[in-house]
Amino acid sequence: MGEVLGLGLTHYPGLIVPDEAMGSLVLRTIASGKVPAALRDAAAWPEPMRREWAGDQGAAAAAEHRRRLVEGFRAVRKALDDFAPDFVVIFGDDQYENFREDMIPPFCVFAVPEMVSRPFARASAFFPSLNVWGEAKDKEFRAVGHPAGAKHLIARLMAEGFDLAYAYTLRHEIGLAHAFINTLLYLDYDRQGFPYPVVPFHVNCYGSSIVRNRGGIGTASETGGDAAADPPGPTAARCFALGAATARALETSPWRVALIASSSWSHAFLTPRTGYLHPDIEADRARFAELRDGRLDRWRDLGWAEIEASGQHELLNWICLAGAMHALGRRARIVDWVETYVFNSSKCFAVFPCS
Ligand SMILES: [Fe+2]
Repeated sequence: MGEVLGLGLTHYPGLIVPDEAMGSLVLRTIASGKVPAALRDAAAWPEPMRREWAGDQGAAAAAEHRRRLVEGFRAVRKALDDFAPDFVVIFGDDQYENFREDMIPPFCVFAVPEMVSRPFARASAFFPSLNVWGEAKDKEFRAVGHPAGAKHLIARLMAEGFDLAYAYTLRHEIGLAHAFINTLLYLDYDRQGFPYPVVPFHVNCYGSSIVRNRGGIGTASETGGDAAADPPGPTAARCFALGAATARALETSPWRVALIASSSWSHAFLTPRTGYLHPDIEADRARFAELRDGRLDRWRDLGWAEIEASGQHELLNWICLAGAMHALGRRARIVDWVETYVFNSSKCFAVFPCS
């Protein structure tokens, strides 16, 4: 009989770069022309955002943001080490990395024996190669997979009616998509090693903008001027049901498995409601209250229009975990809830203990 631990965290790319660069996405989004003219001057920003930005473009606030995120990762890592899993399953999104024009699966489980990634080699202003560890641009990170566990999960989900895609190899030139590799980098922020095999579980969180935005913030130059929406990704209800089936599949397996949801919540550059300037704090507070109060089933009913208006696309990763934890009757222990206006997204760290 298996055992399942639930963990929720973030793969926020800004944690890779030095504090002075953490807030730079605000400037890039403004420079892109997405933000309404009336909101481009810092004097017009909400007061908490001006306080974070201060006189140093957010550098001091970034140090505090990092401190809390790193503490969150250390606490989640401790829960993971105490649990000592046979492998981890990470629900994460692919942002035009492994999956591009030739195929966008709603879900895909990776049954890959070994995954080699070069996360700092990504040539993009959105993911600068500068990193706080001072590691080389072409440094390789190796993660061991767990094909037997992945195949068990795929087979059980197929038996429950989920028509899953799966893959035996990675296609992205630099290895794992950032949702997965950042999770591994941050769970090993102190660079002591990460000994657990990994099964990446892709969720198409980006729906109508996954190809259109080409992994960027969706400016006209990035989209080639073609603003036509892509078809939607899976619904919240489908993600919730898939999470519940995943819990059942792993509970009846021979393994101890940590289920990890990896994403920040509302993203500034995805949030039309705030003019793309900052994340939808109010919507995230509503989701946080539901998580804290054990009302995860509310997430099953979120509609795409509501999710996209609040830039909460990546919450789908957490909704998969929510379905699993709801099925197991688990309540979240909140490790931290970190709100921000400047650093693109608020972040949550949570553990769903086994007993
Ligand atoms: Fe992401």
